[in-house]
Amino acid sequence: MDDWAAVILAAGKGERMRSSRPKVLHPLAGRPMIRYVVDAVRAAGFERPIIVVGRGGAEVREVLGDGFLYVEQRRRLGTGHALRQAEPLADAATHVLVLNGDIPLISAETISSLAARHGANGADLTFLTARVEDSRGLGRLERDGVGRPQAVREEADREGPDGGPAEINVGVYCFRGSWLWPRLRRLPRSRSGEYYLTDLIASAIRNGDGVEAIATSEPDEAIGVNDRLQLAQAEAVVRERIRRRHLLAGVTMINPSTVYIDADVLIGEDTVLWPNTYLTGATRVGAGCALGPDTFLADSRVGARCRVVSSVLEGAVLEDDVEVGPFSHLRPRSYIERGTHIGNFAEVKNARLGRRTKMGHFSYVGDARVGRDVNIGAGAITCNFDGTRKHRTIIGDGSFIGSDTMLVAPVEVGERSATGAGSVVNHDVPPDSLAVGAPARIRPLRAPRGSPSARRGRRSKGA
Ligand code: UD1
Ligand code: CA
Repeated sequence: MDDWAAVILAAGKGERMRSSRPKVLHPLAGRPMIRYVVDAVRAAGFERPIIVVGRGGAEVREVLGDGFLYVEQRRRLGTGHALRQAEPLADAATHVLVLNGDIPLISAETISSLAARHGANGADLTFLTARVEDSRGLGRLERDGVGRPQAVREEADREGPDGGPAEINVGVYCFRGSWLWPRLRRLPRSRSGEYYLTDLIASAIRNGDGVEAIATSEPDEAIGVNDRLQLAQAEAVVRERIRRRHLLAGVTMINPSTVYIDADVLIGEDTVLWPNTYLTGATRVGAGCALGPDTFLADSRVGARCRVVSSVLEGAVLEDDVEVGPFSHLRPRSYIERGTHIGNFAEVKNARLGRRTKMGHFSYVGDARVGRDVNIGAGAITCNFDGTRKHRTIIGDGSFIGSDTMLVAPVEVGERSATGAGSVVNHDVPPDSLAVGAPARIRPLRAPRGSPSARRGRRSKGA
């Protein structure tokens, strides 16, 4: 789009959100609202959109990154004033595409076809409308008896009850640049004290300038997000679209409306998602898995043919053929190798479990490296925290950790070794050995102040 500039208005206060976060950064299916708009604009062929930022502008820049031109609107004086800030960056372009930053459902196709229409009709201004059931808070298009647009009237300037069905202004406009900029500079303040971009429409019509209003056939795309209710409505549409995309790409969902998939998630074919399953953030799931019911994955990677039931994975990696659950929790930097089984009530954190290892019941493994073909008995745990610092546990290939073993880190269990049920292991176990017993002895937890043992430190390792 060589002779075009694109401007996205994202400097509004977003007061109706009642939030400390800039409105356009509120997430929809895990992705900030503004990213949907800029992605659609770019997919329509506008390469370097200009973003008008205001409150929270630094955060918006950080989220969007390079690849855009940013301009700041220092005082929030309305959409007309916001667009004026872009003039120095956009005044060389023949045509200017303008979008509100809070219409996340707008599609690249709709933007392209509006721009194509504008290119073809020779109008000064071509803009998008939609027929909606609830026009609360929106600018309504008024047409005359033969259907010619007359004006877009904002809520603050309307009389009578608000809401109800109407044809509304979506917030996507194409202008001829040489027509736009001088008129924008002369735009008067509205009754509310703001400069309304939409007031250009009525004045253009009065002057007999070329104005065309194009009604979209996709009213969902017109949802503008001003408050949390509209955010929830937009979210429902986005989630439905995401599910539909995965269903058509070979993912089974037992009850789709109970499955929540974020926008950036990838899922392989023949994977089955049971009810109440959440795949969030940068999660990637391989083919042929069964996830859920009642499962939550955040920023995790799951290989092929894994089963996860009623469990939580956060920043975890499963290779292929891993089983987890029910009722287990894999925390950040858990790495589970192929064919490993994690049963119920297990917690893993910052630990690697080798191939075919089994950790069936009531265990905690943290800050550890566990080899292949290891059996971790019921109730066995790594005591990784001495009250001040974390320590590592290493368990060699083929070893057998008996039920209720306490591995007091730092500690290493050699290959093919075993620990007895209830043992408290606070010294390294060489390979091919058996460690048994509990070396627990009793000491005062807190020695009297100033006593020699208090000065030596209360918690020497391993009790
Ligand atoms: C606007 C339109 C309305 C339309 C609706 C569609 C105007 C006056 N009204 O109303 O006709 O039906 O969108 O959703 O344009 N912004 C700035 N600086 C400002 C004010 C706003 O950058 O000073 C940005 C906002 O961040 C937002 C966009 O412009 O992304 C629209 O502003 P908003 O206040 O949400 O306008 P609406 O009341 O929704
Ligand atoms: Ca809005």
